[in-house]
Amino acid sequence: MRARWGLLALVAAVAVAENGLSGWLRYAPLPDGQRQQYASSLPSHIVALNSTSTSPVYTAGQELQDGIQRILGRKLKISQEHSAWTSFNSSFVLVGTLSAYDKLGSQNLSTDLVPDGFWLNIKGGAVTIVGQNGRGALYGAFEYLSRIAQGNFADADIVSNPDAPIRWVNEWDNMDGTIERGYAGRSIFFANGSVATDLTRVSQYARLLASVRINGIVVNNVNANPRMLTNETIAGLKRIADSMRPYGVRVGISLNFASPGPDGLKETATFDPLDPTVIAWWEAKTNQIYQQIPDWAGYLVKANSEGQPGPLTYNRTLADGANLFARALRPHGGIIMFRAFVYNSNMNPAVWKDDRANAAYDFFKELDGEFLDNVIVQIKYGPIDFQVREPASPLFAHLPNTNAAIELQITQEYLGQQDHLVYTPPLWKTILDFDMRVGGKPSLVRDIVSGQRFNRTLGGYAGVVNVGTNPNWLGSHLAMSNLYAYGRLAWDPTGDVQSLLQDWIRLTFGSEPSVVKVITDISMASWPAYENYTGNLGIQTLTDILYTHFGPCPQCQENRWGQWTRADKSTIGMDRTVSNGTGNSGQYPPEVAAVFENLETTPDNLLLWFHHVNYTHRLHSGKTVIQHFYDAHYDGAAAAQTFVPAWQSLQGKVDGARFDDVLFKLRFQAGHALVWRDAVAGYYYNLSGIADEASRVGHHPYRIEAESMALSGGYRPVAVDPFEAASNSTAIVVGSGPNNNGSGEAATVLDFPLGTYDIAVGYFDVAGGRAHYGAFLNGEPLHEWYGDLEDHLGHEFSTKLDAHSATRITIPNVDVKRGDVLKIIGLADGNEGAPLDYVAILPKGVVD
Ligand SMILES: *[C@@H]1O[C@H](CO)[C@@H](O)[C@H](O)[C@H]1NC(C)=O
Ligand SMILES: *[C@@H]1O[C@H](CO)[C@@H](O)[C@H](O)[C@H]1NC(C)=O
Ligand SMILES: *[C@@H]1O[C@H](CO)[C@@H](O)[C@H](O)[C@H]1NC(C)=O
Ligand SMILES: *[C@@H]1O[C@H](CO)[C@@H](O)[C@H](O)[C@H]1NC(C)=O
Ligand SMILES: *[C@@H]1O[C@H](CO)[C@@H](O)[C@H](O)[C@H]1NC(C)=O
Ligand SMILES: *[C@@H]1O[C@H](CO)[C@@H](O)[C@H](O)[C@H]1NC(C)=O
Ligand SMILES: *[C@@H]1O[C@H](CO)[C@@H](O)[C@H](O)[C@H]1NC(C)=O
Ligand SMILES: *[C@@H]1O[C@H](CO)[C@@H](O)[C@H](O)[C@H]1NC(C)=O
Ligand SMILES: *[C@@H]1O[C@H](CO)[C@@H](O)[C@H](O)[C@H]1NC(C)=O
Ligand SMILES: *[C@@H]1O[C@H](CO)[C@@H](O)[C@H](O)[C@H]1NC(C)=O
Ligand SMILES: *[C@@H]1O[C@H](CO)[C@@H](O)[C@H](O)[C@H]1NC(C)=O
Ligand SMILES: *[C@@H]1O[C@H](CO)[C@@H](O)[C@H](O)[C@H]1NC(C)=O
Repeated sequence: MRARWGLLALVAAVAVAENGLSGWLRYAPLPDGQRQQYASSLPSHIVALNSTSTSPVYTAGQELQDGIQRILGRKLKISQEHSAWTSFNSSFVLVGTLSAYDKLGSQNLSTDLVPDGFWLNIKGGAVTIVGQNGRGALYGAFEYLSRIAQGNFADADIVSNPDAPIRWVNEWDNMDGTIERGYAGRSIFFANGSVATDLTRVSQYARLLASVRINGIVVNNVNANPRMLTNETIAGLKRIADSMRPYGVRVGISLNFASPGPDGLKETATFDPLDPTVIAWWEAKTNQIYQQIPDWAGYLVKANSEGQPGPLTYNRTLADGANLFARALRPHGGIIMFRAFVYNSNMNPAVWKDDRANAAYDFFKELDGEFLDNVIVQIKYGPIDFQVREPASPLFAHLPNTNAAIELQITQEYLGQQDHLVYTPPLWKTILDFDMRVGGKPSLVRDIVSGQRFNRTLGGYAGVVNVGTNPNWLGSHLAMSNLYAYGRLAWDPTGDVQSLLQDWIRLTFGSEPSVVKVITDISMASWPAYENYTGNLGIQTLTDILYTHFGPCPQCQENRWGQWTRADKSTIGMDRTVSNGTGNSGQYPPEVAAVFENLETTPDNLLLWFHHVNYTHRLHSGKTVIQHFYDAHYDGAAAAQTFVPAWQSLQGKVDGARFDDVLFKLRFQAGHALVWRDAVAGYYYNLSGIADEASRVGHHPYRIEAESMALSGGYRPVAVDPFEAASNSTAIVVGSGPNNNGSGEAATVLDFPLGTYDIAVGYFDVAGGRAHYGAFLNGEPLHEWYGDLEDHLGHEFSTKLDAHSATRITIPNVDVKRGDVLKIIGLADGNEGAPLDYVAILPKGVVD
């Protein structure tokens, strides 16, 4: 029987909890006053010009009915009859395609609409929504609903066309139901090696995607299983396509290049892309898919990358590989997205001129013009891999005769895995708005991927989302702003990221001004703060790339994967110059290359991406590199502390369930931001020996190290590896081994003046066990908690004491006087030996 100290509050069951399932499509009722104000100018019924229940126009009618009823409390009848059409100003919502609208004959629309585009005309209660196709009509309906859900009833006459035709999401779901880099539970698409039986969530997801104008999805991991192409799976994919079709979302899959061959389905002797049996196999398989799913989107391929098979295996070019699928898809109008993420993952960090960042250009530049017209090369935004800051991939500048798409990540693989708030669109904007100056002319990345710059008919966006079975899709309510803004930016990359955020806030949490302000403030501060405390000046996210990609590990970069920092005791940064380094700066067109080649003209925030410098090198800001590291880590972590009280100010203004969920995450982030700060600043202090001018790094006047407390029971000190993951490099644990159920006590006599303090406890929460902790002051219980973050958070958990598992809680407002005895009791659970790092006795306003 485990000890109970009786302090855990019982959480009352909430009858109707907001669980995030509807995302930004909640259609919350408008306040009565607003409802009445517009009651007279509302439409009286809905005319949806299509009666086929799988058509997006039909869906639009249903969505309008549901939305208007929930927002305004009035259920409108839907009619599919053209005769309902009377005069242009009559009071109803009309939704249909351009051709259906023109057939009404009264007056043809002279507006230029491109596929998926729409015209939305609002004159009081007369609302006309015309899509160039059914999808466009649905997008227009969502636009109208988004306006009234935000209390906007103004007249409007807008034509909205997509900037790019390809606006897809990618899901890295495996057939066993796991998701690579997913932080929100299991797959909604697959379970037990097959397509899931219940696809309710899949169709709900299609609705969310359509509302932000996403028109395609690739449902499985780019590290693909050949069994995606068995007859059984194809039948399952047909069910997925059926559930997404009413929302105009077309379905495709990632392919394993070797699928037909001996290591795959064993139906051909080889997977050589030029072998006639292989060509015939892919053609037949593709025809079979289209027979069952006529609007099939196409394929995504990761070839010859990170151990995946590909055409290079047979000395064929990557273009040969892509064109194999392009030929099979072409008769059906399908598309092949071919990833440019091809690199050698067995590099030697000792070779100064080697550089993974050079790989995409090196592999693809020579192939420009060799890809068929239905191939799109899908290029990650930066040359490495979704880091907290990267320059735009130079490859965007070098494919004038090839379709290109940009790959962005909504799932926060290197950005806190949805347990840190990071609103990523400002990061994406640094790439989309970047001017490559190809041929000395304006060449924004967004105009390259839209096809405008090089006059391509195809191109666009692929966003890796990785939603899961968690009711709130991404495992974090606030992270959904990233998905919302992704879709909207793929439609219009000139959109203002703060306005998009605020649309999302009003739709998700309501229009109360303080709610909008607080969520805007913390979201807009979140990426700069995260960059500050994880890896600044272009050094990349300093995480453990061999393990979870979550917490800090600055020394984990110099290995075969090529995400190097080249830090030693006096210097840091990748020398990517042409003059003395890897030559990467020379991959950019001349005007851009000149900027990055030169230390003086390289912006501070990319300094260490392009240059290898002394820690004492002075930035444009006047600070040294090392002092900037210290300051930025302290500033960023301090910013993360402010998110908690900012959110708490919304208590009562946000429903209890979502308020609590978000608060839990922001508190975790505040603690883990300090882990990042201390680990990175401590690591470089240790490496360089250069002191922090503000004397913060390595000095923790308010901390008492667990190892220096009076230990009894099973507690004993352990050295933590990596050393910077623990305060003073040392923690204490109880026992060891899988059946560990020992206990221990750590006590200390406090030597702080009489006052009210926050008591912070640094400890470790590893995967598997749920250790039990109690804090006592002079024998009286203060707080008890469990090491059970794995039940509440979605990031990848570590099984070791390290900076992924390091965490911290704060017990607020404790009255302390000199001589008080603070004691922590820890009860081990399995491999979690109630590990404890330190306690900190913090006067109000101090964060140590
Ligand atoms: C209705 O939608 C279906 C399915 O999208 C389509 O095939 C049909 O042509 C549409 N009918 C009209 C009248 O637009
Ligand atoms: C509808 O249009 C007619 C003329 O086109 C006009 O007389 C009438 O006032 C309009 N009705 C409304 C409600 O705007
Ligand atoms: C509108 O366009 C249709 C063809 O889409 C045509 O048959 C019809 O005559 C046009 N109507 C007018 C008023 O121009
Ligand atoms: C997967 O298999 C397990 C055990 O075989 C079963 O309990 C579970 O319900 C299955 N899940 C689905 C979604 O079919
Ligand atoms: C798969 O389906 C195709 C087309 O329906 C059929 O020709 C083939 O025999 C099936 N394969 C297996 C292994 O059942
Ligand atoms: C590919 O070419 C290399 C040398 O260019 C040769 O050693 C190798 O055997 C070739 N591989 C195949 C599968 O043809
Ligand atoms: C763009 O490409 C189209 C063919 O797709 C061609 O007709 C047109 O002339 C091109 N425009 C420019 C400016 O090159
Ligand atoms: C030039 O490269 C060498 C390695 O080849 C490196 O040791 C040296 O620090 C670099 N010089 C400068 C000024 O970056
Ligand atoms: C670092 O500083 C030393 C001494 O000032 C200088 O000789 C060296 O070139 C610098 N190294 C780099 C990479 O700038
Ligand atoms: C990030 O760090 C820089 C440098 O210390 C500081 O100027 C900036 O205010 C910080 N921003 C945030 C949000 O932490
Ligand atoms: C760095 O840490 C090591 C232990 O990992 C220690 O031996 C060394 O003294 C530290 N150096 C500095 C400058 O703190
Ligand atoms: C730091 O840890 C060492 C043992 O690893 C211990 O001897 C020393 O007292 C600790 N320092 C503090 C300030 O607790």
